[in-house]
Amino acid sequence: MPAGSTRRQRICDLLNTAADQQPVTVTGWVKTSRFSKNVSFVHVFDGSTPQTIQVVLKDDADDALKKRLGVGAAVRVRGHWVPSRGGKQDWEVVADGVEIIGDSDPSKYPLQRKRTSMEHLRTIAHLRPRTNTHQAMLRVRNALSWQIHKFFQDRGFLWIHTPILATSDAEGAGEMFQVTHGADATSFFGQPMNLTVSGQLHVECFAQSHTDVYTFGPTFRAENSNTARHACEFWMIEPEIAFADLDDVIALAEEFIKEVGLATMEQCAADFDFFDRFVAKGGVQEVREALAKPFARVTYTEAQEILAASGRQFDYPIGWGSSMQAEHERFLAEEHFKCPVFVTDYPTDQKAFYMRLSDDGRTVAATDLLVPRLGEIIGGSQREERLDVLQAELSRRGMDASSLWWYLELRQWGTTPHGGFGLGFERMLMWMTGISNIRDAIPFPRTPGNAAF
Ligand code: 4AD
Ligand code: MG
Repeated sequence: MPAGSTRRQRICDLLNTAADQQPVTVTGWVKTSRFSKNVSFVHVFDGSTPQTIQVVLKDDADDALKKRLGVGAAVRVRGHWVPSRGGKQDWEVVADGVEIIGDSDPSKYPLQRKRTSMEHLRTIAHLRPRTNTHQAMLRVRNALSWQIHKFFQDRGFLWIHTPILATSDAEGAGEMFQVTHGADATSFFGQPMNLTVSGQLHVECFAQSHTDVYTFGPTFRAENSNTARHACEFWMIEPEIAFADLDDVIALAEEFIKEVGLATMEQCAADFDFFDRFVAKGGVQEVREALAKPFARVTYTEAQEILAASGRQFDYPIGWGSSMQAEHERFLAEEHFKCPVFVTDYPTDQKAFYMRLSDDGRTVAATDLLVPRLGEIIGGSQREERLDVLQAELSRRGMDASSLWWYLELRQWGTTPHGGFGLGFERMLMWMTGISNIRDAIPFPRTPGNAAF
């Protein structure tokens, strides 16, 4: 129990009580205050709910106190819980005493009542969690993580804590941040060390020992793509299952997205109502409907045919072998299928070395889940479990297999068909809430050129 919580009530709990004259102690920050000759109203929030409570100050309230009760001030209110005479709330606090815990000059407070742009709020990332949008986002972020763990724990998956410091480039995309200590980049560990881009290679070891596992943690990519969907530090959920093929991976991904999505919407109903009304009008309702219906499925080859037949002018090339860009992904999910769609069987050369080579010799058992408005939120595959095929692929790519000796050995001692996927946690948040920039879906975003906090 946090310090002091025995002496205060959380606003979310208080709003669920209907006990006339119940003594009340609440703490929080002033959102608005309105003073008149006879009566004064102060609205206080504490982060536990999107709602504020209305505090009514008696006429004899001290003028000096009123001056300090401006937006931003931290307060402790003691009083009584009574049915409200105003129309906007059912209950309110009639104050017996208000204490200023921390002053805040309302004339200089960086979060004035007028709407501040999301861009500007990024420059005050230490204060933006007090705004309605970020209040809601952080509660949803918390609930989604909770539901993700619950989903896997209910099914007996083990949460594996894969390392943040990693020597291998799991995705083979050369986008790793190097970790150094002292002048020589290799002296500390005896070899170059990096921040992980994915926990997958490590979590595969545990799928080969505990069958159903997942990792959920921060990942880091030094890609210099300054887009609204890319961050240098983001969180990823990566389940990995043994004795499984691509169909099993896709079935797990679909069940997972639907269950955690709907459970989070239920847990944070009021916050989603806010996003639906003020952030992306009707967007939440669209996602809720999408989560209630089957997702579509199409092969990469079929998807290319659909793009070619669309008559659309795309900025980037289409046709077999071309890589799918966000515009293609969005066209498929948003306009063609009008629902989330699993694209499968991508050309080998577009995907990472570990994906299972199909019998056609030119595609791998891969899948991306594309959703309307955003494009890719999941990337996954069946893994290459055949040692000789994996070795041949590594050498075909000119990759150094020596640092992956342990990964290759998994294929030597009781190898199994297995697979998994990675969900971008912030991408899922963006899709569900309608927040259009990843910088607004993570507490302190890290993007190229941005490290102010
Ligand atoms: O498709 P990716 O690169 O797949 C992997 O890393 C696999 N190892 C996953 C697995 O099979 N276990 O990344 C997975 C997801 C993407 O679909 C995307 O949602 C998200 O991670 N992602 C990013 N999110 C934010 N910023 C970035 N720079 C991201 N890069 C990938
Ligand atoms: Mg991907």
